[in-house]
Amino acid sequence: MRSSYFHTEVIEKINDMRRLRRQLAEPVGLVPTMGYLHEGHLALVRQARAENPSVVVSIFVNPTQFGPQEDLKNYPHDPQHDLALLEKEKTDIVFMPSVTEMYPARFSSWVEVGKVTKCLEGAARPGHFRGVTTVVAKLFNIVEPTRAYFGQKDAQQAIVIKKMVADLNMNLEIITVPTVREPDGLAMSSRNTNLNPQERQAALVLYQALSLAQQLWSQGEKDAERMRQEIIALIKKQPLADIDYVSIADTETLDELDTVKSPTLVSLAVRIGSTRLIDNVVLKP
Ligand code: PAJ
Repeated sequence: MRSSYFHTEVIEKINDMRRLRRQLAEPVGLVPTMGYLHEGHLALVRQARAENPSVVVSIFVNPTQFGPQEDLKNYPHDPQHDLALLEKEKTDIVFMPSVTEMYPARFSSWVEVGKVTKCLEGAARPGHFRGVTTVVAKLFNIVEPTRAYFGQKDAQQAIVIKKMVADLNMNLEIITVPTVREPDGLAMSSRNTNLNPQERQAALVLYQALSLAQQLWSQGEKDAERMRQEIIALIKKQPLADIDYVSIADTETLDELDTVKSPTLVSLAVRIGSTRLIDNVVLKP
């Protein structure tokens, strides 16, 4: 019944999730998240809602994808607010397992994707993608979705998941949803809440750098090194910004390019104060 009243089922146990899954109308869309939802996450949920009669959203702060120096303990959470937002989007099921439900004692199997996990975020965060692919493979096995939705905001993550699905013959479709931005261009991220007002202003440099890449591309620039140097020069003008990487790479293999082609993934990781932000754009015709 889809009236003004819509009931979202909240499930914590894997067995209950499997049991309810069998009663859902096909096809089923899954949106994996770590909660603390913003408009970026909700864009995924809305697209899943538009394309499938049944929508499952998972909320699980996955400990295995955080490095020892990373912010697992401080990861923001507000499950009540998340549930209210998901109910509004007419989510059928919210799957919210505990850490011991997903990783019981003596858990010891891992899904590891090769080359595309070694560069960019994988180089900066060793072990990160092993944690992501393991938990996402588990969610796929538990929910058995027809389609799963990932954000272009985390471009490498979407590429890694697609590679896992292809290599391991997983029976679902991966859909990438465009990045949702603040009105001034900053990509939405739960990390943005860590920025003070001065840093929030400085963080615009990521979007400015990507806009420059797009502008150079539309003016005919094909030399990747020249494009990279122009991007680096622009970011360096912002005193609060500290570049981790500027990558101009193939959208599938993530190999760095000498010559920009169509499509090309331009991606950045930049520290603004102590907050590390990532963003990207795909150069197309
Ligand atoms: P999380 O950071 O919560 O993000 C969940 C999904 O929302 C990801 O697919 C991410 O790319 C997407 N997303 C975040 N910000 C977005 C934005 N501004 N525009 C569009 N999409 C956006 O990514 C993860 O969780 C985890 O690694 C997970 C896949 C859930 C595995 O633990």
